[in-house]
Amino acid sequence: MSQDPKRYTITAALPYTNGPVHIGHLAGVYVPSDIYARYQRLQGKDVAFVCGSDEHGVPITLKAKKEGITPQQVVDKYHEIIKKSFQDFGISFDNYSRTSAKVHHDTASEFFKKLYDDGKFIEEVTEQLYDEEAGQFLADRFVIGTCPKCGYEESYGDQCENCGTSHNAVDLINPKSAISGSKPIKKETKHWFLPLNEYQDWLSDWILKGHEKDWKTNVYGQCKSWINDGLQPRAVTRDLDWGIPVPVDGAEGKVLYVWFDAPIGYISATKEWAEREGKDWEPYWKDEDTKLLHFIGKDNIVFHCIIFPSMLKGEGSYILPENVPANEFLNLESNKISTSRNWAVWLHEYLEDFPGQQDVLRYVLTANAPETKDNDFTWSDFQQRNNSELVAIFGNFVNRVAVLTHKYYEGEIPQPGTLTEVDENTLQELKAYPAVISSSLERYRFREAQQELMNVARLGNKYLADEEPWKTIKTDEERTKTVMYVALQIASALAVLSEPFLPHTSDKLKRILQHSEVDGSINWQSVSQEEPLLPSRHRIGKSELLFSKIEDKQIQTQLDKLEASKAANEAEAKEVVPQKDTIQFDDFTKLDMRVGTILEAEKMPKTKKLMVLKVDTGIDVRTIVSGIAESFSAEEIIGKKVTVLVNLAPRPLRGVESQGMILMTETPEGKLVFVNPDTDGVDNGATIN
Ligand code: 2FM
Ligand code: ZN
Repeated sequence: MSQDPKRYTITAALPYTNGPVHIGHLAGVYVPSDIYARYQRLQGKDVAFVCGSDEHGVPITLKAKKEGITPQQVVDKYHEIIKKSFQDFGISFDNYSRTSAKVHHDTASEFFKKLYDDGKFIEEVTEQLYDEEAGQFLADRFVIGTCPKCGYEESYGDQCENCGTSHNAVDLINPKSAISGSKPIKKETKHWFLPLNEYQDWLSDWILKGHEKDWKTNVYGQCKSWINDGLQPRAVTRDLDWGIPVPVDGAEGKVLYVWFDAPIGYISATKEWAEREGKDWEPYWKDEDTKLLHFIGKDNIVFHCIIFPSMLKGEGSYILPENVPANEFLNLESNKISTSRNWAVWLHEYLEDFPGQQDVLRYVLTANAPETKDNDFTWSDFQQRNNSELVAIFGNFVNRVAVLTHKYYEGEIPQPGTLTEVDENTLQELKAYPAVISSSLERYRFREAQQELMNVARLGNKYLADEEPWKTIKTDEERTKTVMYVALQIASALAVLSEPFLPHTSDKLKRILQHSEVDGSINWQSVSQEEPLLPSRHRIGKSELLFSKIEDKQIQTQLDKLEASKAANEAEAKEVVPQKDTIQFDDFTKLDMRVGTILEAEKMPKTKKLMVLKVDTGIDVRTIVSGIAESFSAEEIIGKKVTVLVNLAPRPLRGVESQGMILMTETPEGKLVFVNPDTDGVDNGATIN
């Protein structure tokens, strides 16, 4: 790849269409990719910046089940909301497509077919998890269980959100169906596997040897750990009824795995765009002189660095990504952003609550971008960055320049006198900024780049504060003209350099300064050149405020919204069973509860829930049949101290007499837990009263 590629293909992760877009998505993916795409376009580069709705996969099906509508209805609804909010926010996609589009179904099917025809898959009948109650196979988010790598108990079938590992659903420990809550059985089914193990050496060379220096440490580190752990074949088909049908004989009722089709969505989106623009899509994906970049969040690293590149390599005619600048996560007011718990700032709601203030959110998300570690968004930081940075530094400088130019010169840029050393140094410093900002952007350091942009505004403020044109106007008109001339050049540079970061502000500022009326174009490069950006006698337009103060009450409204979400979540978690009828003390004393210890445990054959236990009650060792098999394995409960109701009349359960009851309660997620008071040092048989 040359230092100066012919074109850029920039992709932003396709959002799942099971909910609107929130600030976590924006900070992680869409704002940085948009800054980068805008920046490269400003350099005159040929850019295809593509994205679209990810409309297949289990999250969509689950949402549809929950809402009692079809998956198509779910994706139609959210596709429109997401597309419009991106547009209103100013994300400059060249194309925002969707994976239900025909062009995508065709592209993904052809891609699969090519790999299939070339013998790049393993076709195999294996045992997969199956929910007998729901009558369907469980994969991906349809199944939850304990991660075999980190022990996280809520891992999905295809990926653990806690440690990022991608695995096969059958590897989960204690899997549970997300549809019925039941414990799945294993059932045979045929699938097509991408033998990632065959790509292991190649991936190792390409990433571990080839990208140690230029990929972000978080991305490189994750890849290294997967590669070193040894890669396994991954099924790229699923037994589901929502998705792209597997385009080969003998695959009825099967669809492509969503993570097989979704990244191909970048290709389909490029094709759709090229068709519309009368261009050829192929160079954007096949010419070695194209720089392909994937902007994603950290949970998508394995798919973009290991699986999709292996697919591209296997297909054979595609280029590979030059870089995958993945971000970490953004939290909200110290808690993990969550769509299901409505703990989020939704983009479409922000746009309604803060009309015309898109750039404030862009600014704050970039200033606080989770580039190297998870970060926190707080509404007070949002207010503070707006009021004391955008308003007080950027807006204040531009406003002073525009107002004074109108006041002193009726909006006409004055002829400067001789430049002093301070003026020369200030202009020299200004000319260095394009290279400084570029250098940060080229290394995907968006926070740093934006700080440098703000330093341009700081340079302007300091210059005005030191040279005080509002004072010299009374004593030295010539000096004032020079100072205003220099200040106007700084304001003009800000209009250009802010474009990738604050596009709405940049447009407004260009309008105030009437950039369009200047002969020749004013661009990124012009800022570093000798000629002034705005010549004397050029007339600027009406002054407008670039930013306005955000008041406490606006912030309070947002905090109240979050408070309401929290209250709703707590209420949901606390849905308590109503109190039973009152009993007398004598009734209670009839219950004989003792501390006991489980000595043996064995799952009862042919049942889902029952476990046969041998419990030492202190009185005797007795058999108790308990419905806990879905929450525990036999091994993990042996030796456990429990509370036993010992005088419950014995009753037969599936042919075994149960001689008591073990007291249990349940977590909000439905996992049983033992009512296990602090019984350290208490002997079996101790009474509970
Ligand atoms: O994690 C997600 O939201 C996925 N929908 C991202 C897909 S990116 C790409 F490969 F399409
Ligand atoms: Zn894990």
